Amino acid sequence: MKNILITGGAGFIGSHVIRLFVNKYPDYTVVNLDKLTYAGNLENLKDVENAPNYVFEKGDIVDEAFVFALFEKYAFDGVIHLAAESHVDRSIANPMEFIHTNVIGTVNLLNAAKTHWKDSSDKRFYHISTDEVYGSLGEEGLFTEETAYDPRSPYSAAKAGSDHFVRAWFHTYKLPVVISNCSNNYGPNQFPEKLLPLFINNIIHNKPLPVYGKGENVRDWLYVIDHVHAIDLVYHKGMVGETYNIGGHNEWKNIDLIRLLCKIMDIKLGREPGTSEKLITYVKDRAGHDMRYAIDASKIQEELGWVPSLQFAEGLDKTIDWYLDNPEWIKNVTSGEYQNYYREQYENR
Ligand code: NAD
Ligand code: TYD
Repeated sequence: MKNILITGGAGFIGSHVIRLFVNKYPDYTVVNLDKLTYAGNLENLKDVENAPNYVFEKGDIVDEAFVFALFEKYAFDGVIHLAAESHVDRSIANPMEFIHTNVIGTVNLLNAAKTHWKDSSDKRFYHISTDEVYGSLGEEGLFTEETAYDPRSPYSAAKAGSDHFVRAWFHTYKLPVVISNCSNNYGPNQFPEKLLPLFINNIIHNKPLPVYGKGENVRDWLYVIDHVHAIDLVYHKGMVGETYNIGGHNEWKNIDLIRLLCKIMDIKLGREPGTSEKLITYVKDRAGHDMRYAIDASKIQEELGWVPSLQFAEGLDKTIDWYLDNPEWIKNVTSGEYQNYYREQYENR
């Protein structure tokens, strides 16, 4: 038996990681540590909540005493750290929260692992990060693991800071760490503040689709389950001290993706062609909006044999169907704090 700590397991990517680990590794006890912020939702884990090898612990990674006590209680063999504040727009409105959770919270976990892992030869601290730490690309080029860090939003600066601390704990204290930096994920259970679920939800309710600037920014989209398979591989087979970039080889200009989404939604909702596109509303650009992200994922492909398995058309279709089939989920997760936040942000645009 092994005890694995997964932080942020009630969130979008974390809930899919928990599901895979609980089902695939019955000899692991999977401990989900999550603060249940607006983005954390235990409904995401209904199907595994009674599994004998799953435990939920509500808590804050910023709370050092709590984190240390948890390591004491479970004697973890490994950590997969996903808990974070994750939305760029929120980081622009409230950067301090991002510094607390993403930087201090990560350092607390590193310190707890360092303190409790006397012999760390068979242990592993896996930090889940983002390609946004590399900054913004022009028309050409891809982010590789050697690309210099150049974060430009409070979110990416906080994630970059946490990556640096993880590497510092490896070099200074020999903590057995591994890091991956992934491109934009999409799929079921993503909180409807990120582009795709927000726009799907707005189309369903005939609300405006706020396109930032001219909609020319480019993102590299990866289906969340493909990311989760990469996480499984990196956790078990990745080399200690190494970094792996994960991406979808799937670049889309925002406006092209939004137009495609509108077309599919018209068909699925039985609306006249062109109905959803009429909802497109160009709004003030995001401050410091990174122009393009794109990942060179050849290292993880060559060294660990990972490639994205799902075609984008299929992934998008599955994602849209999931949101259409789960109106209760959308209602529940958007009923509280987020609604007020979104109303304020949107009214101020
Ligand atoms: P999310 O916002 O959906 O979920 C974050 C989870 O962390 C939530 O369950 C939340 O309750 C929890 N959390 C937040 N603050 C916490 C705290 N102080 N203590 C304990 N739990 C806390 O995020 P996501 O999109 O699932 O992203 C997960 C991780 O993957 C993040 O580290 C993010 O930077 C990284 N990542 C995300 C993407 C993406 O496209 N979503 C891409 C690359 C990397
Ligand atoms: P988002 O999903 O917030 O991810 P990230 O900023 O981390 O890449 O945004 C994806 C792209 O969509 C990004 O270029 C910003 C743009 N966007 C809009 O145009 N309108 C919106 O309402 C949102 C949320 C995002």
